[in-house]
Parts: sequence; C-alpha cells; structure tokens
Amino acid sequence: MARRRQVYEGKAKILFEGPEPGTLVQYFKDDATAQNGQKKGVITGKGVLNNRISEYLMLKLAEVGIPTHFVRRLNMREQLIREVEIIPLEIVVRNIAAGSLATRLGIPEGTRLPRSIIEYYYKNDALNDPMVSEEHITAFGWADPHDMDDIVALTLRINDFLSGLFLGVGISLVDFKLEFGRLWEEEEMRIVLADEVSPDNCRLWDTKTSEKMDKDRFRRDLGQVAEAYQEVAKRLGIMPEAGLRDLKGPEMMQ
Ligand code: TMP
Repeated sequence: MARRRQVYEGKAKILFEGPEPGTLVQYFKDDATAQNGQKKGVITGKGVLNNRISEYLMLKLAEVGIPTHFVRRLNMREQLIREVEIIPLEIVVRNIAAGSLATRLGIPEGTRLPRSIIEYYYKNDALNDPMVSEEHITAFGWADPHDMDDIVALTLRINDFLSGLFLGVGISLVDFKLEFGRLWEEEEMRIVLADEVSPDNCRLWDTKTSEKMDKDRFRRDLGQVAEAYQEVAKRLGIMPEAGLRDLKGPEMMQ
C-alpha cells in the first residue's frame, strides 16, 4: 500500500490524508493520556472500541439530523471523515457533578445538576486548555456569535439524544466533551460535529451501581479500563464481530 501522508498526530488519534480531496482518515490509537499528557499509558483494544463506538454514535446522531464529519468506518482502527476546520474549543456538557466541576465548586460527585451546564475551554496544550467564556471566544475570533448559536443548539440536541440513548442501555451520561468544525460546501459553511464521541471523552456511569465505565478508570487508576469500554460497546450492541479476539486490530499501515 502506498505510504500515506500524515496530517496530524494527537494523543489518541492520527489523521492521514484521505483518498479524495476534502477527506481524511482518522486512525484510533490505544494510547491514553491524562492530566494534559503528564500521565501516559496504553489501553489494549481502546482504539478499536472507540472507532466502533464513535461510528455508532455519530451515525445515530446523523439519523436525528445532527451534521457530523463522519463518512464511514474503513477498518478496525480507521474511519473516513470529512476534512473540517476545527474550531479551537472544547465544549463540555455536564448533567451530573463530577471531575473538575465537582473539585472547582465543591459539589459532591454524583449530584444531579439543576439543569445541564455547558462550559467552553480554549484548545491549547501549552496553556492547559483554560476555561473561557463566550466573551473571550467572540472577542478573540475563535468563533462568531452565529457559530456559537449553532454550537449551543447542536450541543443541547446531542446531549438530549445521547442521554436518552445511554439511559436505554442502563448508563448515565454524566458529562462529555465535544469538538466542532467548519465544513464548506460550495460557498456555504456549516458547523458539524467533529473529533470522536467515546468513553475517552464522556463520563459514563452504570445507572444502578454508579460504576465508572469510561476514561476515569485510567485517570484514577481504578483498573479494568479496557473491560469498561468493552462493556459500553456490549450494551450498545456493537462489540467487534469476532468478540474479544478481535480487539488488537490490524497493525497501522502507512
Ligand atoms: P473535566 O471534569 O475534567 O473538566 O471533564 C469534563 C468532561 O470532558 C469529561 O467527560 C472528560 C472530558 N474531557 C475531555 O474529553 N478532554 C479533556 O481534555 C478534558 C479536560 C475533559
């Protein structure tokens, strides 16, 4: 196979040039990082599971009219996506207090929030992704007020839909992080959901036991990380066809 040009390497994914202009191949690694890269590890099979889980969730979201960058899954670790201009924001939605919100505001983890809360973080590793307000975002031109209207409307719809979808399989969607991008078609620009939606960027708790089924198992050294991701895939009815044997997936081709 011809060597592909690598466009970008992140902590958990690599982007390669796609087969047609305007497309990219998103490769999911097993690497995991936390605390802005200070904690590093490998979760065997994570890339395969996140590729599959994110495919499933993006397709479900598309079915209810949420535009996404996802085109199709190519193999165990790769998916074809539309190339977008990433808006340099992490959009966090919270339904239940956990993580940095619980710490910062002294609210016990597990407290149901009076309503869903959206927070914005500026994507900048050197600055440790600082929290910002809509004032900062529009003043510095990371997104304009119209983009923000679209982002908030999409985010609330995504939260409603995914909360229901997960609840149906006995999982509480505690909080999650989204990224959006600008997609141009002819002269028209649309804001679309980008990146991935997986247990790497969602907090997912078992509805009955509150057991954590997401990357907090890695962040907090709780063990059984891959097993938790597998359980999410199993409940969604999308465990890789050949089951656990299949989780290593093919070696990366370049
Ligand atoms: P936080 O409680 O640490 O602020 O995280 C909120 C949610 O956002 C949680 O589901 C994890 C996710 N998240 C990411 O996906 N990437 C990040 O860099 C951070 C800080 C959080």
